[in-house]
Amino acid sequence: MANEDLSSKVAINDPLTDPTQKAIIDQIIEENKTRPGATMVVLNELQANIGFVSEEMQQYVAEKLQVPVSRVHGVISFYSFFTTTPRGKHTVKFCMGTACYVGGTPALIEKAKQILGVEPGQTTPDGNITVEVCRCVGACSQAPVIVIDDEVIGRMKPNRLPQELKKIQIVTE
Ligand code: FES
Repeated sequence: MANEDLSSKVAINDPLTDPTQKAIIDQIIEENKTRPGATMVVLNELQANIGFVSEEMQQYVAEKLQVPVSRVHGVISFYSFFTTTPRGKHTVKFCMGTACYVGGTPALIEKAKQILGVEPGQTTPDGNITVEVCRCVGACSQAPVIVIDDEVIGRMKPNRLPQELKKIQIVTE
């Protein structure tokens, strides 16, 4: 039973099993496969149009472009703007610029981990919140800064984090 649940979840998360998304993926590959640097161009377009590049998509791209899958993996892991899982509905970013880092970002990330159970680069299992780190957002005088969706929130403290996250969390009890 548990296995069945898992496989249906994986299928939902795999754009290659969705006819509309697969058509988009095929079109992107078709339009770009003969360009110089096709691997990078295709992956970039997939990230922009599908929102992430799953393991299955990476294998599919490698097959279609006839390049080693290790090269595709290499590109995906080298550039931080690629994500391999669907993004959450909301995004919480922690500024890792010097002022924020020194001002306490690591403690904020630790607190977020306790509250949400995920680390930067991951999304909560309910698909609601993606946690990320980011570069300086230009609000250093208010360090440490977090960005929830598009809202920059300065002078953040670990004990203030729960109330900020509550605004976007799905309450299930
Ligand atoms: S270092 Fe965080 S806003 Fe500049």
